[in-house]
Amino acid sequence: MPHEVRGVVARASGDPVTVETVTVPDPGPGEVLVRVQACGVCHTDLHYRDGNIGDDFPYLLGHEAAGVVESVGAGVSGVAVDDFVVLNWRAVCGVCRACRRGRPWYCFATHNASQAMTLADGTPLAPALGIGAFAERTVVAAGQATPVDARARPAAAGLLGCGVMAGFGAAINTGAIERDDTVAVFGCGGVGDAAIAGAALVGARTIIAVDRDPTKLEWAREFGATDTVDASSEDPVDRVRELTGGHGADVCIEAVGHPDVLRQAFYARDLAGTVVQVGVPAPDMALPEIPMIDFFGRGGALKPSWYGDCLPSRDFPVLIDLYLQGRFDLDRFVSETIELDEVEEAFLRMERGEVLRSVVTI
Ligand SMILES: NC(=O)c1ccc[n+]([C@@H]2O[C@H](COP(=O)([O-])OP(=O)(O)OC[C@H]3O[C@@H](n4cnc5c(N)ncnc54)[C@H](O)[C@@H]3O)[C@@H](O)[C@H]2O)c1
Ligand SMILES: [Zn+2]
Ligand SMILES: [Zn+2]
Repeated sequence: MPHEVRGVVARASGDPVTVETVTVPDPGPGEVLVRVQACGVCHTDLHYRDGNIGDDFPYLLGHEAAGVVESVGAGVSGVAVDDFVVLNWRAVCGVCRACRRGRPWYCFATHNASQAMTLADGTPLAPALGIGAFAERTVVAAGQATPVDARARPAAAGLLGCGVMAGFGAAINTGAIERDDTVAVFGCGGVGDAAIAGAALVGARTIIAVDRDPTKLEWAREFGATDTVDASSEDPVDRVRELTGGHGADVCIEAVGHPDVLRQAFYARDLAGTVVQVGVPAPDMALPEIPMIDFFGRGGALKPSWYGDCLPSRDFPVLIDLYLQGRFDLDRFVSETIELDEVEEAFLRMERGEVLRSVVTI
């Protein structure tokens, strides 16, 4: 029997989001129904609302979520009723050319639920990142629900579902940061701070936080930054070089999504160093003009990072264990908990830079 629940819907580009009655079907083959307990407000939800991601309105927003599996469809294994799960937006297929080559984190055919959730009048909803979790219940592909230790606080655990995993993975998986490395992170929102926390956890020697907002720099220190650079008053490239013996950092992480910042990350890097691009650019942005001789002459690597090159089934349980052991402070990302009908105000607070994450709890 379908379920009538409340969900946060974006009906038209730029319009404020509204709480609507959403019909959620019982899970079909390979799907699970999840009772959502918490869902973080991510920049990507705002991009959906503003029509920057597509024109498939109406959207059911929300994708950084944790909850409990309420029922499972035919043929589901690996996740069961009553499991505490974190949702992910890259459920790997196992059979595409990336998966077959043993690189499932690049999977080119990730799974979502095939059934649609709808408005009361039957209009199908496009769920944000194939999830749609600003809702009391949501239906997803079984592989999108990753079981983790149920002792984790849902508001914190759900954040692994997007920004925190993307930042942490950008540092550890894509950037392969390790003990003794020098690191600079450009942009210290939830994503950048997770990269800082990841770098600290694996023993990076120097971790330089770069942002234009002094409050963000203070928070970055709490996640493990050893030095901070205020990009509104200092030249980030010069400062990162100064702080790394004149050489530049081994790994520079761009967590803003802007060509000017990518250029800074490129030049703030030591010879043969790595630039990781985890910030998402707007569709009209172009790569910064960099002389090709600099690209060649400086060596190393420029690496975009999708979802932190994570493998949810491998990485979520580990990060939850580190959290429960007190070694990875997921709670610190939760600036406030809010109700379903407060998402629109949370977008404004996010735009003003007042929060790392507002988290809807249900
Ligand atoms: N690659 C992925 O899979 C993935 C996943 C989730 C989010 N993201 C992207 O990561 C980026 C960061 O996300 P977030 O949630 O941390 O966003 P956020 O808005 O919370 O943080 C961005 C930070 O960058 C700072 N900033 C802006 N311009 C700057 C500049 N010129 N120099 C230095 N700092 C600057 C802001 O002050 C802010 O602290 C976004 O582009 C988001 O879309 C990527
Ligand atoms: Zn695949
Ligand atoms: Zn997100």
